[in-house]
Amino acid sequence: MMSIRKILQHKRDGQALDAAAIQALVSGITDGSVGDEQLGAFVMAVFLNGMDDDECVALTQAMRDSGRVLRWDDPALPGPVLDKHSTGGIGDVTSLILAPIVAACGGFVPMIAGRGLGHTGGTVDKLAAIPGYEVSPAAERFQAIVRKTGCAIIGQTDELAPADRRLYAVRDVTATVESIPLIVASILSKKLAEGLDGLVLDVKTGNGAVMTDSGQARQLARSLSEVGTLAGVRTHALLTDMSQPLADCAGNALEISEVIDCLQDRPRRDSLMALSRELAVETLVAGGLADDRDTARRKVDEAVSSGRAAERFAAMVSALGGPSDLLDHPDQYLPEAPVIRDVEAGQSGYVTDIDVRAIGLAVVDLGGGRRRAGDRIDPAVGLSGLIQIGEDAGPDRPLARVHARTADEAERAAETIRRACRIGPQRPAPPVLIGERLTSGDD
Ligand code: URA
Repeated sequence: MMSIRKILQHKRDGQALDAAAIQALVSGITDGSVGDEQLGAFVMAVFLNGMDDDECVALTQAMRDSGRVLRWDDPALPGPVLDKHSTGGIGDVTSLILAPIVAACGGFVPMIAGRGLGHTGGTVDKLAAIPGYEVSPAAERFQAIVRKTGCAIIGQTDELAPADRRLYAVRDVTATVESIPLIVASILSKKLAEGLDGLVLDVKTGNGAVMTDSGQARQLARSLSEVGTLAGVRTHALLTDMSQPLADCAGNALEISEVIDCLQDRPRRDSLMALSRELAVETLVAGGLADDRDTARRKVDEAVSSGRAAERFAAMVSALGGPSDLLDHPDQYLPEAPVIRDVEAGQSGYVTDIDVRAIGLAVVDLGGGRRRAGDRIDPAVGLSGLIQIGEDAGPDRPLARVHARTADEAERAAETIRRACRIGPQRPAPPVLIGERLTSGDD
């Protein structure tokens, strides 16, 4: 067995590591016998020299196996176990629409989601806006709910892929977060620990994405789909636009209310429903629940129009401790901010460009996200009626509506939004919402 020092030397010199070496390293990360300085050297060597797909598969599998891996075979489930993950954005609430749709189409979705990171929103923070919703149930209860209702969405647990937590903390302080193989292994190890049969990745590009460069985002999407599939889970990736907020709203309770409208077939904006639908289609195909995309589209549309997807969502909320009549009376349960005001455009013309990162940070500033780990989130605050690229701003069309705790905070957010929206005399072409689809193998 190679010593850790020898493994580091190999990687430093640009040689590929075999699965046994990677396994030894990950065991040392998990049991603490590999020190932070050695871990720092490892991630920097990977950042500088990269990893080939075989190394990345070995790293993903070793990290997946560093903790509990969910099993679904006792008794066997009557459908495939599926999930979707997004690299993060603003108004990206597709997970909450997709999971119940896939459940209504015969899949099982044990989704372990993240909290907001930087300027991006987090699925778990949105669910926490629902009174009583338990985001950290025990694994046994989580699995029982998935078996019964077809889907459950909860937060990260300490049990799944613990090696990733140490690795991520070291990456964070060594300027190596951006390494594609390390991102791939980090995302996939946690998802594969859910015991999946199929996975869909929504990789965002554009100024509101975590990875703003489209070439890099494409490389990430390709690598996620190859490595996931080589690691034994059929993995599809879509490259999608984040050059404007995806939904009408950004903010935790506001986004939940928009999800309820979408599931009740009353979408407020085409883009959120269109992307949720295509990601659900991809998930059904990856999971073998539809032979082709046209069939999958018909199933998805039927799941929404029949109300069965909304029913799955209601069942999940109620099983996890939320109100059983949330969908009938969302306004009774979702908190409302005390100050609500429109953001006047100040000039007329077409919106040509939106600084999406600034919009996300405005929501954080209102109290809807965290500046530091451990900050309390106010679920009621945020933005609604967000204007889109190509829309005509002016006296009849404000840029957004701010939901704030105080008039001062509302004014500050309004200023940020005015600066974030560029307005010009010519209507620009709308951004293309869904770009390339990356699959590996014979799909
Ligand atoms: N999300 C993760 O879970 N890990 C990364 O490295 C990047 C995004």
